[in-house]
Amino acid sequence: MSDSILPEDPARRAALITTCAAGAAGSAAVIWPFLKSMRPSERALAAGAPVEVDITGMAPGEMKRVEWRGKPVWVVRRTPEMLQAVKKYDAQVADPDSKRTAYPTPAYARNEYRSIKPEYLVVVGICTHLGCSPTDKFQVGPQPSLPDDWAGGFFCPCHGSIFDLAGRVFSNMPAPDNLEVPPHTYLSDSKILVGTDAEQVGKDTA
Ligand code: FES
Repeated sequence: MSDSILPEDPARRAALITTCAAGAAGSAAVIWPFLKSMRPSERALAAGAPVEVDITGMAPGEMKRVEWRGKPVWVVRRTPEMLQAVKKYDAQVADPDSKRTAYPTPAYARNEYRSIKPEYLVVVGICTHLGCSPTDKFQVGPQPSLPDDWAGGFFCPCHGSIFDLAGRVFSNMPAPDNLEVPPHTYLSDSKILVGTDAEQVGKDTA
């Protein structure tokens, strides 16, 4: 008796092989369009690759949300007033110069506004306390859970941590650190690449 799982009858073997081949071709025909149908950003996410953010047409004060390696990343186009608000909070935040190292701020964002270009903030939207996602609170003025002189920022509803418009945590909050600034760079005036640094871009695409 043969060890093969195929039938010994030559006619039946041929018929079975033909059927399997047709089935495999059919499966490929189903899978390929499915993979092709994934948008580039979805394929990049699946691989954990850097993600491009198109900032064309973002209005002043607008926030865009993208996903990078399963994490929410926020891009905020800050107005001059929002940048003033960052300055205003220098004395009230726990780590004004982003010197702490639990979530190291890249060297190119270790500056007054924690960004490459002051106009655009790029941060990971995950609270450094226990991982909730804060909400944007861009409306200025008194409101529940925020200081009366609120000038805009982010609020974590889980345990009440507040962050300014540079993602810096206020002093004496449950969250110990500023929001993380992910590695990122500008591909052009209208495109930010999140997930890699400028020096890395050439190597990534080499
Ligand atoms: S998880 Fe944000 S304050 Fe606790």
